[in-house]
Order: sequence, then structure tokens, then C-alpha cells
Amino acid sequence: MSTRRGLLGGRFEHAPAAEMERFGSSIAVDLEMAQEDVEGSIAHATMLGETGILSREEAAQLCDHLRAVGDELAAGSFRPSDADEDVHMAIERRLIERAGELGKKLHVARSRNDQVATDVRLWLKRRLLELEAAVAELVAVLAGRIEADGKTLIPGYTHLQRGQPILLGHQLLGHAWPLVRDRERLAAARARLDRCPLGAGALAGTPHPIDRHLTARLLGFAAPVENALDAVASRDHEQEVAAACAILMGHLSRMAEELVLWSTGEVALVRIAEAYATGSSIMPQKRNPDAAELVRGKAARVIGELHTLLVVTKGLPPSYNRDLQESRAPLFDAVATTLASVRVMSGMWRTLEVDRDRFETELAGDFSLATELADYLVAQGVAFRRAHQIAGRIVRWCEEEGGDLRRLTPEDAERFHPAFAGADLERMLAPRAAAERRTSYGGTAWSEIERQVALLRCLLPPVEDPAAGAAEED
Ligand code: ARG
Repeated sequence: MSTRRGLLGGRFEHAPAAEMERFGSSIAVDLEMAQEDVEGSIAHATMLGETGILSREEAAQLCDHLRAVGDELAAGSFRPSDADEDVHMAIERRLIERAGELGKKLHVARSRNDQVATDVRLWLKRRLLELEAAVAELVAVLAGRIEADGKTLIPGYTHLQRGQPILLGHQLLGHAWPLVRDRERLAAARARLDRCPLGAGALAGTPHPIDRHLTARLLGFAAPVENALDAVASRDHEQEVAAACAILMGHLSRMAEELVLWSTGEVALVRIAEAYATGSSIMPQKRNPDAAELVRGKAARVIGELHTLLVVTKGLPPSYNRDLQESRAPLFDAVATTLASVRVMSGMWRTLEVDRDRFETELAGDFSLATELADYLVAQGVAFRRAHQIAGRIVRWCEEEGGDLRRLTPEDAERFHPAFAGADLERMLAPRAAAERRTSYGGTAWSEIERQVALLRCLLPPVEDPAAGAAEED
């Protein structure tokens, strides 16, 4: 029998059309937060018992039955169906089947509107903790990679044209710091959504003497949502989480793009481990970076989900509207997709092989060392703009001569500017020396990389040592 006929039937003479039943059901998505719904109901029942709205005995019995329903759901022996419409109705139906008339007392002073809002917040609080830990793990993996391979010399690019030689550690720090901010963003979103909507009722509160602070406390929320209408109508916390996920996915996506590029035969700086590479059904030699490409593709999906969430609420009259049901699938998927992507990225970086010598000789004489010529002249008292022009002329001359900067002799250099007299060109133009010269705060010199890695390590949450906790309890 449909739940509508069973629980909401008073006002209706007829059952909903089968098509409408399917169309309106959110069961498939709701099952993801079924345990949260049970917990919400247990907290609500407990509060009803504490405030005298139900007797303590009734509340305790309801809680026992609810726990049993939770177990049935977990075991799969109770399976809600589309006829239930949503998880809240399914659980209440099952409760009534078990507890009889007593089960019908639970729904006082609440509505599905505050229930769904509560379930999603509970779900988010948990999943965000997992996501934040996964991001911290990825940062730790990058830090380890920097310690191992960070001194590898690579070309630094702008516009995907060689700019200046840098160390790989510098580039990886350029990826790690945004992830640190991503983690902060997620934690901030989690702190902001830590408010309990339960007890808001449909939109207006209730005449019964409930204790929303108690309900909030029982569920581990910092406080109740202040306003009952805001509690059922607002989804900015969902949008904020999805935005944090979308920004994070953007960061993973450009990191993925770099791995795709670096693993090409042309660049060949890294080799993606077999565990994260795939083959081709026709080309036997292939070792494709699919994991990285999928992260890049999934970023598009999460960005789209953020868009959906923003659009769902923008024209709604502020209270509960059924449109809000559409926010859950994209929200859950955004969080799950982001979590899976972060974890795959960690795995890829952990197992990646880096060819540390790849650019060691290739960068000798490279035009990306032209800034060294200019900076040398500046150190001799030449104005930077003038020095820039002279270095540019030297590049053009070398090109015309059909060579690179190794073509330049001390005599040639002196012809371009007398301040080059006595210069040690070889030292000046050594790519590694050029990178190591950049000791300014945040520069690519190894000393700066080491400083930042130490700082990163400080910012990461301490790894929980279960033994330490046990010792404290004694
Ligand atoms: N299934 C609904 C949702 O996902 C729960 C709230 C339904 N409320 C209602 N008045 N129909 O949003």
C-alpha cells in the first residue's frame, strides 16, 4: 500500500498515479542518509520524552523501535520503495508497523521539511570530515614527494612557454598550498552548517513545549538554526559545500592536466604507475593516464552540480518548496566525486616515478635563462628595462646564429654591454644555479622549498595515535 494512503491519506480520496509516485519519489537518493534520519528521529523522540510531550517510557520504546528499524535498513531486511515517497515516510511507516499506535505519536512538532534539512546537515558534517582528512593526506603525499624528488630541475612555464628554470618542489608547492586553502574552506563550511533545523516544523514552529536546544545537543550540533523558516528553506550551506568542492576539483583538474602533459613521450618527466594507468584495446604499447583524465572530467561534473544547486533555490519563495528535493542528488554526488578524486590523486602521486635527470642537460643554454643575463646587468648597476632590452638582443642574436645561449662567448657578451666584462657566463647561465639564486621569500631556491614544506607539515592535522589516546585514559 502506498504511504500516502497509509500516512497522508485523510485528505485524499484516490491514490497517486503510478507515474506520479515514481516521479515524486526521492527514495533512491534518500537511502544515502537513512541512518541520519533514524538518528534524527531518535533525538526527536528523546526530546519529546524529556519535555513531557510523551512519557519517558513511550520515548524509550520509540527509540528502541527506531534503532531496530535502523538495523533492518542496514541489514537490507527493510527496503523502502517508491510508494513510500521518501525515507522519512518509509521509516515512520516501518516504525508504526512495529510499534502500532505508539509509532503514530512520533511526528508531533516536526515535519519532513525540518527532517530532510537535518539529515542533510548531519550527512554533510560526517562526509566533510572524511573529505578534509583526504585532502590533508594528499597534501602530505605531495610534501613527501617534494622531499624525495623536489630538487629535480624542470622548466617553469608561463603561457606554456618556457619561462625560467625551477625546481619540481616549487611547482608542487604551487599545487599544495591551494589544497591547504581547500581544506580550510571545507572546514569553514562545516562549521557554518553546524546548526540543527529539527523542531522547526513545517515552517512556523510548534505550539508544543519542545526543546530545540536539547535536540541539537543530542545530535551533536553546535546549536539550533535560529529561525524556523530559514531552517526549512535555506540551502546556502549545500551551495557553499558544493562551491568548496568545485574549487577543489578545479585544483585537482589542473594538477591532472599537468600529469597528462608530463607523462607524454614528448615531456616524459613522470611515469604514472601501472596501478593508475590503463591500456588500449587496439594499441598494445599504450599506458594511458586515464585516472588523471577522469579527475579532469569529473571536475566538470562537480562544477555542473554547483550550478544546479545555485539555480534550484534562486527563484523559490522562501519556505519549503518541493524543488528543494532536487538538490540532494547533485550535492551527494559532488561530495562523493570529490572525495574519490582526491583519493585517486593521492594514489597517483604516491606511486608516480619522476625522471630526476630529465631536464638536467636539456636546459643548458636554454633561452629560459635570458633573465639571468638581465639580472646580472642589474647587479652591475644597469636599469632593469635597459638590461631586459640587451638580454633580448642577445637572444635574437643567438637565434640568428642558429644556436642557444651557449653560443655566447664573453667577448660577444661584452659587445652587447661593457658591464659583462669579466662575467663568468658559465656560472651565470647554469640552470640549477639560476633556480637556486631565487632565494626571495617563496622563491624556487631549495632553502625556500624546505621552509615551505616544514610549514605545510605544521599545518597538517596530527596523525592520530590510538596508543597515545589509550595512555591518556589510564
Ligand atoms: N522528500 C522531500 C525532500 O526531499 C522531503 C520533504 C517533503 N516535504 C513535503 N512537504 N513534501 O525535500
